Amino acid sequence: MKRVITYGTFDLLHYGHINLLKRAKSLGDYLIVGLSTDEFNDKEKNKECYFDYENRKSLLDAVRYVDLVIPEENWEQKISDIQKYNVDVFVIGDDWKGKFDYLKDFGVEVVYLPRTKEISTSKIKDDLNRR
Ligand code: CTP
Repeated sequence: MKRVITYGTFDLLHYGHINLLKRAKSLGDYLIVGLSTDEFNDKEKNKECYFDYENRKSLLDAVRYVDLVIPEENWEQKISDIQKYNVDVFVIGDDWKGKFDYLKDFGVEVVYLPRTKEISTSKIKDDLNRR
């Protein structure tokens, strides 16, 4: 079985996220999502989430392309996750292009997928704020 992993915050789950998850799943048979915890978002990513971890996780658990959601608590855990879950493919949107090439040294294929245009959690928040 080919195992794929991706990471992100996935706040206010939107169609850009779904497109990413669909294409990620199509690269293998089993998709793991490392979901940034509230503390990691707050302390390391400077992101304030609208939905908390448990609610973001329930939404992802309900997505047909997602097989397992695990917490992403720090930047370094990717290597141990790859080993623990026998991951074959690491995938993420191309806003991260080049940033995770070092993971190839740990035996995974690294794939950057084009982002869906004109949608993001930040854009949703900004647009609603302007109304
Ligand atoms: N993503 C995507 N297309 C979009 C938005 C996000 O492919 N239009 C991908 C990102 O590249 C990442 C994953 O979805 O691989 C999770 O992204 P995340 O940062 O949680 O979502 P954003 O909508 O980009 O959030 P923000 O605006 O807060 O950065």
